[in-house]
Amino acid sequence: MLEDIHHGRILILDFGSQTTQLIARRIRESHVYSEIHPYDMSETAIRAFNPKGIILSGGPESLTRETAPRPSRVIYELGCPILGICYGLQLLADQLGGAVQSIQHRREFGLAKLTLCTESELWRFLFSPSSKGSHPLTVWMSHGDQISELPPGFQVIAGTQNAPYAAIAEPSRHYYGLQFHPEVTHTEHGTDIIRHFVQTICQCQALWTPQHIIQMMKQDIRHKVGKEGVILGLSGGVDSAVTAALLHAALDQNKHLQLTCIFVDNGLLRAEEAEEVMERLAREHPIRIVRVNAHKRFLSALKGVVEPEIKRKIIGKIFYDVFEEEAAKHKDVQWLAQGTIYPDVIESASAKTKKAHVIKTHHNVGGLPKTIRLKLLEPLRELFKDEVRKIGLELGLPKSLVYRHPFPGPGLAVRILGEIDEEACKRLRKADAIFIEELKKANLYDTVSQAFAVLLPVKSVAVMGDARVYEPVLALRAVTTSDFMTAAFAKLPYAFLEHVANRITNEVEGISRVVYDISSKPPATIEWE
Ligand code: XMP
Repeated sequence: MLEDIHHGRILILDFGSQTTQLIARRIRESHVYSEIHPYDMSETAIRAFNPKGIILSGGPESLTRETAPRPSRVIYELGCPILGICYGLQLLADQLGGAVQSIQHRREFGLAKLTLCTESELWRFLFSPSSKGSHPLTVWMSHGDQISELPPGFQVIAGTQNAPYAAIAEPSRHYYGLQFHPEVTHTEHGTDIIRHFVQTICQCQALWTPQHIIQMMKQDIRHKVGKEGVILGLSGGVDSAVTAALLHAALDQNKHLQLTCIFVDNGLLRAEEAEEVMERLAREHPIRIVRVNAHKRFLSALKGVVEPEIKRKIIGKIFYDVFEEEAAKHKDVQWLAQGTIYPDVIESASAKTKKAHVIKTHHNVGGLPKTIRLKLLEPLRELFKDEVRKIGLELGLPKSLVYRHPFPGPGLAVRILGEIDEEACKRLRKADAIFIEELKKANLYDTVSQAFAVLLPVKSVAVMGDARVYEPVLALRAVTTSDFMTAAFAKLPYAFLEHVANRITNEVEGISRVVYDISSKPPATIEWE
């Protein structure tokens, strides 16, 4: 019998901080399972979750306001440890009999020096008698309010110059509050503090490891699916490839009958993309893959369309039409598997509850048309991207596939600005392939998070072989990022860029010049459309 790896789990209540996801990631990196839920999770749901510990996230609101978000008081009745971070620390003061005040004139953003003043279970592993008052830790702060009165039973365990209540503790109940953010990498020992909290203070066992996760998922898939048929859309990306490998491993009794993968080739893929993915997946995992060539259907629907959001909608709609038609041919199928991962789940949950400004509609996040008759199987929906990659490697997928740069669902359609046609796709594909090939040759591919070429709807003059040409401009984009929410442009060497630009203008017909995009996100998004 398998140990239930969800058994010792941590509940994160989200008050809207930009770094809540990072808290969950740090806990997972400590091999403990955690879930993020909205701050107003009901009393019944909290009890049913049965956490071994609770973390209250940061958030943009102020507890000096009556209307500020507050969680159900049931969290104080469960008898489990609680860690409040930033706004979460202030909540402990607010709800347990202390007070919070606004400090508009002394707000703290960025790095601060933290002095430990009392020994505490929270940093027993850090503290030695000599650390009292010396060797301050560098921590990352971001707050405009602070505690003005400690709740009964609490003591101050660390302070900064601006925040005398930078860390507080109520040792008998294991309640802790940190004004700084341990989840961000700029905080020294931040990850250690979180690991110590979940493993030692909350006593969660370190069961959340790739091997355990795979075992659990395989068991879960077998239990759900039994002997029924499963269909999976392969996109060429990491998530669907790992889903395929996992299903293959789980359904090994009848794999050839049970699992069918459909690869919809929309004509908007990168050079050799379909072949590469299918060949690499098939090498280690003899999976039945049906390739549907739908170039013409996509390109004719996109004819004359220039607006990016309309391109996305058309591509999303045709994808589902093609997929459904193909799926209908497989009568013995009851399940539709999808490579949905945890950030997609959080993103679509928050899109439902918040009136977030839509910058781009990522069609793989929106879910399926209501008409689909199949049951949904999403084995990766509890995992972050880095966890998906580790599982992919553990399942035997090649590193080059698992660590591929992401590629958007609408493909080259959002990298050909303006109108799309076969000719533009060919040109862009060729230029993009040169850029990627050179990045790999120069050992730069793994140093950037995403790199690609963009074909602009702007023509410029060039002289080629004594003749004047007037052709489109091509932009190269390469970024580094850890989460794709923010990104910096990659500082690629000039000599490298020069070499790539030379190759592109020499080898790809119909490109007059090459430019390099030096914008960061925000404000510029990673893709141009
Ligand atoms: P942006 O351009 O929003 O991109 O900064 C962030 C990440 O998302 C990818 N992206 C998409 N992925 N469908 C997708 O599946 C889309 O419509 C889409 N638009 C952008 C982008 O490549 C980057 O990795």
